[in-house]
Amino acid sequence: MEDIHPGSATSDDPLDISESLVPAREIKQAGQSYVSFDGLLQRPLLLKEDLKEGCGGQLWPAGMVLAKYMLRQHRFSLADKTILELGAGGGLVGLAVASGCEVGPPQIYITDQVPMLPLMKSNIALNNLSRKVKAAVLDWGTTLSDEIPRRPDVILAADCVYFEPAFPLLISTLRDLLGPDSVCYFCFKKRRRADLRFLKLAKRAFQVTEIDDDPEAGTYKRENINLYTIRSKPGTGHHCIDGRDTA
Ligand SMILES: C[S@@+](CC[C@H](N)C(=O)[O-])C[C@H]1O[C@@H](n2cnc3c(N)ncnc32)[C@H](O)[C@@H]1O
Repeated sequence: MEDIHPGSATSDDPLDISESLVPAREIKQAGQSYVSFDGLLQRPLLLKEDLKEGCGGQLWPAGMVLAKYMLRQHRFSLADKTILELGAGGGLVGLAVASGCEVGPPQIYITDQVPMLPLMKSNIALNNLSRKVKAAVLDWGTTLSDEIPRRPDVILAADCVYFEPAFPLLISTLRDLLGPDSVCYFCFKKRRRADLRFLKLAKRAFQVTEIDDDPEAGTYKRENINLYTIRSKPGTGHHCIDGRDTA
């Protein structure tokens, strides 16, 4: 994991607004906190945060937004769906879905790079969710390992846009995962102008639609957080990258 912090933009770019709207987070000591997502979870999650292995070791605003959206709008629409979270960090979104939505029997996969694996596993255990959730390594841009489900029905990704060299890797992994019936719920906070380039790349490759059924949207949009669905382009099931059809 590169040593870059999603809240650390320092330029004069007008889109570089994260610190003005969301207080800068201090690099805090490892610890545990309860998260109920504004009461949407009857039994709050207990989440360990530990920044030792990278920025995924703490909770990020787009993760909170996506988790709340799933709990509000998809509580009863995920039964029997195969669900996979990308860049899960400590597993905030996937664990919220496992805990508060009707899911399964397929397990929910929360994935990230190798250094995050122990934290994901700790948080699964802390919340007694090992029957429902499995932690796995999925490094964007690399070949999917055998333990990763192919073409999951639902992909979750929160706050995964902040490091430009990783944009094509994330696009490539989405291309590998998205089947004709898959949907990715994708939430990110625009911190700098470069983040918009991810959206441009994604729109060329996939069908990207802004979500408009979230009553909370007005609140988080003011903080430059946006929520989208990403699907493969309709028709042939082919995908386009940089305007080229790759099928
Ligand atoms: C800002 S954190 C967001 C964590 C969590 N989704 C949340 O919202 O709280 C971004 C996550 O993306 C992961 N990540 C960054 N580059 C990655 C890559 N190339 N492959 C897989 N995960 C990556 C990081 O390890 C980190 O956990």
